[in-house]
Amino acid sequence: MAGKLQDKVVVLGGGAKNLGALLATTFANDGAKVVVHYHSDSSADDADKTVKAVQEAGSRAVAVQGDLTRVADVRRLFDTAVDTFGGADIAVNTTGMVLRKPILETTEEEYDRMFGVNAKAAYFFIQEAGRRLNDNGKIISLGTSLLAAFTDGYSTYAGGKAPLEHFTRAAAKEFADRGISVNTVAPGPMDTPFFYPQETPERVEFHKSQAMGNQLTRIEDIAPIIEFLATDGWWFTGQTMFPNGGYTTR
Ligand SMILES: NC(=O)c1ccc[n+]([C@@H]2O[C@H](COP(=O)([O-])OP(=O)(O)OC[C@H]3O[C@@H](n4cnc5c(N)ncnc54)[C@H](OP(=O)(O)O)[C@@H]3O)[C@@H](O)[C@H]2O)c1
Repeated sequence: MAGKLQDKVVVLGGGAKNLGALLATTFANDGAKVVVHYHSDSSADDADKTVKAVQEAGSRAVAVQGDLTRVADVRRLFDTAVDTFGGADIAVNTTGMVLRKPILETTEEEYDRMFGVNAKAAYFFIQEAGRRLNDNGKIISLGTSLLAAFTDGYSTYAGGKAPLEHFTRAAAKEFADRGISVNTVAPGPMDTPFFYPQETPERVEFHKSQAMGNQLTRIEDIAPIIEFLATDGWWFTGQTMFPNGGYTTR
């Protein structure tokens, strides 16, 4: 039986591991071909494993390395989709970088790096997707539920992700004539290696205590929401969603 996304092509920014890897196999199970982007050399093995997992699911994938704070690398990612699979239909950007640090201690370099990964890379990913996706495409960016929180310490993380909401709104209006929907998914604190280094055990417990069932968000809670936005949920556009078990809302 043909999958929901049979013969569609997905470009996955940060597709090698954690949420990105689960999205790669989720889309592959729907019949889509996947461009698996990875960043660090240390993520190359994960990218290979993810490509193999897509192939085992009966679809095709290609891995591409790149620093998405460089616009040329963002363009090369979409070039790969066109050159390898003949086009692109869905673009999901999971790239992000977290820092928990008081404003008074944050350096200029940290600010530039945080806004480079969380805001600039996201902006040019949306721009290139708007240029290159086929009509009726979907663009989904990963935000954070901290966008709906009132808290200390995450000025350059939540602050760096905050512009996504406006990039998303503008792109949704500007790409609407081609039927392209654009959204941001902003999960609660997610149980991946991304989450733990900047938290203490006490803060992990606090984050858990703010959601239903005293638990963190799991990547398995988020992947179906992104899959939905890329398929039957196409009528959502210009929005930020907060799948987080009640951790924050607005
Ligand atoms: N885990 C959480 O608590 C949580 C909660 C809410 C939202 N989120 C967001 O969800 C997304 C996925 O997070 P995750 O937990 O699945 O962790 P993750 O796999 O570590 O995702 C972050 C990705 O960003 C990539 N990246 C970093 N710098 C980059 C650059 N300059 N160019 C291109 N890619 C770059 C990383 O690649 P390398 O590792 O190879 O550098 C990594 O693949 C992120 O956007 C994150 O902000 C996470």
